[in-house]
Amino acid sequence: MTPDLLQQGAKRVAQQAVRQAQKTESGGRETSYGRIAQAGEVDITHGRILYLEDVSVSFDGFKAINKLSLDIAPGELRCIIGPNGAGKTTMMDIITGKTRPDEGSVFFGSTIDLLRHNEPEIAQLGIGRKFQKPTVFEHLSVFENLELALKMPKGVKASMFFNLDSQQSDRLAQVLHTIHLADSVRVQAGNLSHGQKQWLEIGMLLMQDPKLLLLDEPVAGMTDHETERTAELFLSLKGKHSLMVVEHDMSFIRAISDIVTVLCDGSVLAQGTLDQVQADERVIEVYLGR
Ligand SMILES: Nc1ncnc2c1ncn2[C@@H]1O[C@H](COP(=O)(O)OP(=O)(O)O)[C@@H](O)[C@H]1O
Ligand SMILES: [Mg+2]
Repeated sequence: MTPDLLQQGAKRVAQQAVRQAQKTESGGRETSYGRIAQAGEVDITHGRILYLEDVSVSFDGFKAINKLSLDIAPGELRCIIGPNGAGKTTMMDIITGKTRPDEGSVFFGSTIDLLRHNEPEIAQLGIGRKFQKPTVFEHLSVFENLELALKMPKGVKASMFFNLDSQQSDRLAQVLHTIHLADSVRVQAGNLSHGQKQWLEIGMLLMQDPKLLLLDEPVAGMTDHETERTAELFLSLKGKHSLMVVEHDMSFIRAISDIVTVLCDGSVLAQGTLDQVQADERVIEVYLGR
């Protein structure tokens, strides 16, 4: 055989191998069982985007989370309340891969086992988290902060020459509007009010289009007016994203909540509408009896 023919043959074999590989990765029914979920693919056919079952974690023998079971529907805005030390932040640490539970299961949709992923992978899967303190880049403008949020996880090497495509520009404009900062696009983030910084950080999360957003005490330190605007913002996100919001501010919870989950001593104490849980004797006791 001539080297030419040999090469052609080798090429065909290689192509065949690629086709074969594509076949098994194609996500056809026969291969779906046990298949590794791809980013951007969350199976919500069972009506749940987040699912925790019997999760426990101890710190030096102290059970911060104790057989916690909880689930959230796609598009839901779930409020979590509970006294200090109830385990609310630790629960978010577990969902985002910051803390490993000692036991229990945590699923994103019905197929993605979050305990098999680390923190950056979980962010890539579409779970965004907002910590209590705003962490925006103070010396950059509102626009630059949002732009940076888009390119941060991926093209690090391309970032010097990064240009937004039209879809990304549209998203940025939409996010600016959503977070009420369209008039402050050139303002340096360090010059924003505390509330505006919080919105900007939420905007940075939104740029990555998360499926699930975890927000820990988002209105702490905000003025009443900012708190009201934040309630509007969250209501506008509901349905497009799933949200889990931890807050102490009950008027804020009243404004945004459907179902409220009360955490205490690392597990669910009560769940229902705000009126229902506020009328619950056990809830009254943990808030007033301590
Ligand atoms: N990394 C840690 N090491 C030791 N104890 C911790 C750690 N994280 C949280 N805890 C403890 O776990 C309990 C729950 O804390 P946390 O989740 O922050 O409560 P919440 O957010 O509801 O106020 C608290 O008693 C806290 O001191
Ligand atoms: Mg906390």
